[in-house]
Amino acid sequence: MRSILIAGNWKMNMGPAETADFFKQLDDAAQKEIEGVEAAVCPPFVSLPAAFSARKSGSAVKIGAQNIHFEDNGAFTGEISSTMLNELGCDFVILGHSERREYFGENDEIINKKVKKALADGITPIVCVGEVLDERKQDRHFDVVKTQTAGSLAGLSATDASKIVIAYEPVWAIGTGETASPEQAQEMHAFIRKEVAGLFGQDIADGVRILYGGSMKPANADELLKQPDVDGGLIGGASLKPDSFAELVAISAKQ
Ligand code: 13P
Repeated sequence: MRSILIAGNWKMNMGPAETADFFKQLDDAAQKEIEGVEAAVCPPFVSLPAAFSARKSGSAVKIGAQNIHFEDNGAFTGEISSTMLNELGCDFVILGHSERREYFGENDEIINKKVKKALADGITPIVCVGEVLDERKQDRHFDVVKTQTAGSLAGLSATDASKIVIAYEPVWAIGTGETASPEQAQEMHAFIRKEVAGLFGQDIADGVRILYGGSMKPANADELLKQPDVDGGLIGGASLKPDSFAELVAISAKQ
């Protein structure tokens, strides 16, 4: 059975002091080991050390980052490698987020290199795919997501593919308050799983977790998580407050 993953993408929010406060205020129940549920937050790079030191000992909440470069080190001003994140103890890294694609020129080829590098360093990539509104209006959303999935995961071994997490984030639902309906999410998640089966085999596809992202919050999480192919959430705004993050974890525990 696939466990649910509730992952907070803090984007460019929460400096070190706010990050430490988040962990201080986070309800103990949300930090307990819950069978079948994994929780993680992905703060900005500079807040990662604060997250590690403020997280209570024994807390089950994992910590991830939001990007990496695909090289180990070298003359790449401003960049961070997964080797460095590994040294900190990061479990996850979000790759190919639509904001990285839109504002920082990332394409499937670059994302693919990053996915391979994260896996080589033992960090689980959360690989994001999703269409923009025009693509959905033109009924191209399946084609777009198919291309992104195949491109981002190109050349992975089946073993590596079994370690990744995919996040379907329809761009029109990110930060807009507009959520994909549970039916729209399920339809696309099932499609992505079918694509993964075509690339790596049914066993791998059955095991890979596919998260939904885009205005997910406590008020709509239950109906999304009830969908058979929705295995968790990649949550922006609603993950910034300890109370709503804890609520999302509690809702997941009831699935
Ligand atoms: P919101 O939850 O704020 O819509 O953001 C979703 C997202 O982009 C998570 O990666």
